Formats: sequence, C-alpha cells, structure tokens
Amino acid sequence: QTLILGHDPAGVRAAAELLSQGELVAIPTETVYGLAGDARNAQAVARIYEAKGRPSFNPLIVHLPDLAAAQRIAVFDKAALDLATAFWPGALTLVLPLRPGADIASLVTAGLDTVAIRVPAHPAAQKVLRAFGGPLAAPSANPSGRISPTTAAHAADPEDGLGGRIAAVLDAGACPVGVESTIVSWVDGQPALLRPGGIASEEIEAALGRPLTQPRINTDAPNAPGQLTSHYAPRADVRLNADAARPGELLIGFGPVAGEMTLSETGDLTEAAARLFDLLHRADARGVPIAVAPVPEHGLGAAINDRLRRAAAPRQGSGVARAG
Ligand code: TXA
Ligand code: MG
Repeated sequence: QTLILGHDPAGVRAAAELLSQGELVAIPTETVYGLAGDARNAQAVARIYEAKGRPSFNPLIVHLPDLAAAQRIAVFDKAALDLATAFWPGALTLVLPLRPGADIASLVTAGLDTVAIRVPAHPAAQKVLRAFGGPLAAPSANPSGRISPTTAAHAADPEDGLGGRIAAVLDAGACPVGVESTIVSWVDGQPALLRPGGIASEEIEAALGRPLTQPRINTDAPNAPGQLTSHYAPRADVRLNADAARPGELLIGFGPVAGEMTLSETGDLTEAAARLFDLLHRADARGVPIAVAPVPEHGLGAAINDRLRRAAAPRQGSGVARAG
C-alpha cells in the first residue's frame, strides 16, 4: 500500500520520517518526480534499484539542498562552481569527482569515483531535503525503461508507476519543467553533455564561455540513461516527425501541426517539455499507435527530441533491462 502525502508540513515530516527509516518516497522536483532514498544507506539504495527494476550498473543522482552540502560530497573545480552558481537550484546535474570519505553508499555511484549531484529548485523537494537532513539518491520514479512521471498519479500508478512497491508519494501537482535535468560531466578535462535536459545546452555553453563536447555513445558502458537506446518507452509504437495521423494513429501535435492532443499550440518549447511525458502517458493509455509532430532541435527541443527518439526506438528483447 503506497501512501499519498500532501506537501503541507505534516506530509513533508512524514516523508522525512519514512526516508530516515530507509523507506522510499517519490517526491516532486521541478523536472520529474524522483524516487528518493537515503543515499548513505546501502539498503535503501538497493531498494531503489529493486523497485525500478533498474540495472545496477546505472548510477543515481544525489540530491542536496544547497551548494555547501554538495561540496561535502563532490570536488568542484572553477568551471563546476561557475555552473553551480549559475544554475542551482535548478535542472542541472553535475558529474564530479567523489570527495574522498564522503558518506555515500557505493551502490549510488555503482562503484565509480565520480558522483552525479543536483540541487533541485522545487519547494517541496527543498522542504523534504531540509526536513530529512541528508543526501537523497533519486532517479526518476518510474519502472526502468518506462515513461517518466510528471504527476503524483503517474508515480503512484500500480502498472506504469511504482504504486504498491514504495512507501509513499508526496503530491505537489505537476512538475513545471517536465523533462529530466541536463547532465554535464568532465571528460579529459572538457565539459561534456551526457544528457540534454531541462536547461538548454546553449545556456550552459554561454555560462561556461566554451562549447560542450558530446561524448561518443557507448551502449556497452552506459554512463547516462540516454546511452541505452530504448528508454521512456510507451507500450505502443511511436512514429516521429509526422505531419498528419495515419489511420488508427493518435497524433500529438506541435505548433502548426494540430493533433488530437498538442505539445504546444503556439510552438512554445517550454510548454512542450512540461507536457511531454503526461501526453505520452495519456496517449499510451489509449493503446493505439502514437504519431508525434516535428519539434525543432534548439533549446529545450534537444531534450524533447532526445526523449521522443528513445520512445520511438526499437525495444530491446524481453527481459533485457533498460535504463531508467
Ligand atoms: O531531473 C532529474 O535528473 C531526475 C530528478 C528526479 O532529479 N532524476 C533522474 O535520475 O533523471 P536518473 O537516475 O533517471 O538519471 C540519472 C542518470 C543515470 O541514469 C546515470 O546514467 C547518470 O545520471 N549518472 C549518474 N551518476 C553518474 C556518474 N557518476 N557518471 C556518469 N553518469 C552518471
Ligand atoms: Mg529516468
């Protein structure tokens, strides 16, 4: 039985209490709902992998209330500090060297000597982090390989979400950004874009004063969720760059392409990102093939198209775990 908690003080206290006991709670962030567990508690972290059915080689993001707390977990060089100062709290995840002696279960980083960290902006996430008083590991609160949750109902669904498998979901309505955080790491000293997300790479490049490199995709050694091909997958087939529905298809429109549903009538990429996963959840519930209108590749369009390409990618064989 999964409890639904409010984001009032009593709900926040209950969530923090459950987390202190090593239980899992899905919490809202500005990007998507995250499946939170105590990042210092190996058993809680193991439960995250188990609840999601996630392959254990895929490390988790550690969420912290502020930069000072983040600096106790990871080592920041000047460029990392510049990005943290520019974009935190917010939809940016930095992969940095793990600070020696940091109190983080090794399962969180899957044994790597780097750690992914983020300071979320959502007021409810901030309240839970402060009430709990420690680092929270939190991947998106969906079963591995399925559509990410942007509402408490998505996270609590017994089939498409984690209902029945986790202690609680803290409900604070729909996530305002709607796609996961942008992940930046340093490869050979160069900042690299591991996953396009809620902050446009153009903005990050402007803050850094230099371009981000794009690491070559290696599906044998994935280092960001994007690197496994099928991800964010509805059950139905998905066809991209559609300008009209074919018989039997449900068309999700954008801008001038009017569908039965639309990502954004006015072609606004921020609105489209915020609606993306909810529309995929809704379309998938209809059980018909899905077609999606073209979305431009700039700004948040890069993250939207990344998720859409994964939703449309051929599925891996049954039983093969997907990222998540
Ligand atoms: O917006 C978000 O980032 C959401 C919310 C809940 O914060 N979280 C999220 O987490 O999307 P997740 O676990 O679904 O994606 C995090 C990805 C992992 O799949 C992993 O590939 C990458 O971050 N990652 C984590 N630690 C890493 C590391 N040390 N090196 C490289 N990549 C890492
Ligand atoms: Mg995910």
